[in-house]
Amino acid sequence: MIQDAVYTNASLSIQNRLDDLISRMTIEEKVGQLCQIDGQQADAAEWIRERHVGSLLHMLGEVTNELQQIAAQTRLGIPILFGIDAIHGNALHPDTVVFPTQLALASSWHSELVEQVGRITAKETVVTGAHWTFSPVCDVARDLRWGRIDEGFGEDPYLAGELCKAIIKGYQGQDIRHPDSILACAKHFAGYSEGQGGRDAIEVDLSERKMRAFHLKAFRAAVDAGCRTIMAGYHAIDGTPCSANAWLLKSILRDEWGFEGMVVTDYNNTGQLYQTQYTCANIQEAAPTVIACGNDMIMHTPDFYTMTVKMVKAGKIDIQNIDNACRRILRLKFELGLFDERRYAPLDQAAIILNSTPHRQAARNAAYESIVLLKNENNTLPLPTTLRSIAVIGPNADHVRNQLGDWVGWSAKGSVDGRKRPRQNTVTILDGIRAHFDGTTTYHQGCEFGHPSEHLVAEAAQIAKQADVIVAVVGDHYSQVGEFQDRANLDLDADQQHLLEALKATSKPLIVVLINSKPLSIPWIAENADAVLEAWNPGNEGGTAVAEILFGARSPVGRLPISFPHHVGQQPVYYNQMPGWHGGKYVDLPPDALFAFGFGLSYTRVEYSDLCVLNPKLVPDEELHIQVRVHNTGQRDTVEVVQLYINDCVSSVTTPIKELKAFARVSLAAGEEKTVDLSVPFEALALIDRDGKTLVEPGEFDVMVGASSRNEDLLRSTFEVTGV
Ligand code: BGC
Repeated sequence: MIQDAVYTNASLSIQNRLDDLISRMTIEEKVGQLCQIDGQQADAAEWIRERHVGSLLHMLGEVTNELQQIAAQTRLGIPILFGIDAIHGNALHPDTVVFPTQLALASSWHSELVEQVGRITAKETVVTGAHWTFSPVCDVARDLRWGRIDEGFGEDPYLAGELCKAIIKGYQGQDIRHPDSILACAKHFAGYSEGQGGRDAIEVDLSERKMRAFHLKAFRAAVDAGCRTIMAGYHAIDGTPCSANAWLLKSILRDEWGFEGMVVTDYNNTGQLYQTQYTCANIQEAAPTVIACGNDMIMHTPDFYTMTVKMVKAGKIDIQNIDNACRRILRLKFELGLFDERRYAPLDQAAIILNSTPHRQAARNAAYESIVLLKNENNTLPLPTTLRSIAVIGPNADHVRNQLGDWVGWSAKGSVDGRKRPRQNTVTILDGIRAHFDGTTTYHQGCEFGHPSEHLVAEAAQIAKQADVIVAVVGDHYSQVGEFQDRANLDLDADQQHLLEALKATSKPLIVVLINSKPLSIPWIAENADAVLEAWNPGNEGGTAVAEILFGARSPVGRLPISFPHHVGQQPVYYNQMPGWHGGKYVDLPPDALFAFGFGLSYTRVEYSDLCVLNPKLVPDEELHIQVRVHNTGQRDTVEVVQLYINDCVSSVTTPIKELKAFARVSLAAGEEKTVDLSVPFEALALIDRDGKTLVEPGEFDVMVGASSRNEDLLRSTFEVTGV
């Protein structure tokens, strides 16, 4: 640290401090700032002392302040920016609250709730030493075989965009200098979810039209919400890896959208250019490529440092590009207050903040809002108060790791400080039922993932026979979730299927609770269970939320943010399909999704009527205004998610048969009726034409309003766009 230098003076403007600091930096110090190194894979202290590293990832706790101290003792004393995958809570740390996954949260359709999740995650991240979360995922779901479906907000660009904005607001707060704020990172830019066959990180074939019409929308929303960082995807689009794609990283992001924040590559993207994608021969080609194409920070490609220093010195990499990237990184460090009052993390607060009572309550509420009731034959749920015994059966009934999902402590990425998450910090489904039920609860695992389970199935069926009802908790296993874990098959595994069939044979009421990362093909369950609750990966309070719904303390309100297929071969099954002559059917499958986007039941019934378009002749820049009547005709209070879809009836290019353009969460007391107002901005009616231009075309549009994307749930009307 240089005493009394302008850049150390907190009372001066960031611009002055930045100019001063840059003017003092050597080439080595500048290139070092561009490097982000995985602290679990390298000697972090050495990287700070010898290579001036700018950022470290996946380090938490005491070690962060120790490393910050080492950084303070270097010549310029530039602080380290610590990044972490705080994906649904800061859950790589073993003591934090764990929220439902992004996909689960999307089932709430609840922006304020998602913002609160972001806020709490930020607080729980700050006290563990990190400043930056690699979240949210803005990629919209396409092929369900993809292992990372759980990480996004579902299949609809508008819903995903709204929730991305909300979580970013939560992470970053009003001002990122605030002691509770962290940087958000919109990823993986862009089109990552479109990988062929649902396979992760491989070539994507994507036209510019489709890119703009589907994949860029949520990213644009993130940028407009002030997201400070963007992560480039692993994949190549039409032959160009994202980190080597100047069209994406410069033309779209900077020139078109005016993004001023920092672009980070994904993990070793630079190395991938010559290790797996072979668009570069070696680091000598890859280093100048990623710099020229618009990346600022290079995530974990250790060889980048030495080669880049050498090439800048030899005049083969333009120092101006290095300076620009360095400025963006240092600006964030100044803005965060890392040179000043926030240099050292308030680690002593961790014990009070992490998984505190209010945070657990928020997690419980988030889990509750995220649960979707998919079937409820003869009002099986809520369970009657007269019930005497329940058999809780299944491999996910008491399985902490499967319940919490990906990016949690011991998951694929490893626990950050080597400790395990304490068992008592998670309420499993079994725990939740036991705590809420005064009668007899019996439990059997029923089968074990990956092990022969016939004897377990038989034992479980025996136990089930003795009970009044069966709650079967099945789904997927953590080894089927996340990076490197794409699936070719979306069925329940054979043992769980046998288990369910054996339970069905007892003739007891069968309630299935799904603990799974993403939609599975479960037509047997849809047909044979009496009730089905989709609980996803509901976080560490999930068991309480499930029990509250089972016993009727709360009525389910979640709606699917993603469609369920009858069979894996029905891919893609998302609702916003393009129109086609043959109707998109297979001869051996029903034409529609098993459970459609937007669908979800409650313990009451809401009727829709009187759809009215208030301005059926729409002129440029005018908002579309719609009203609809909703009536809760049942006995219980509820929250109805009113959904508005649009179809451009005739357009110069094919456009989706329906697209979500607005929604509202409406509280309705039992018997209550309300008029709901919805509006759609004019520009939301735009399509991307053959030349890649975004425009609204004149003519008729259908507007559909109702309880889900299914035709039978929608009221219809029309309006006309004129004067364009
Ligand atoms: C993932 C990113 C993640 C990064 C850092 C990569 O493998 O694709 O989503 O943020 O690792 O852990």
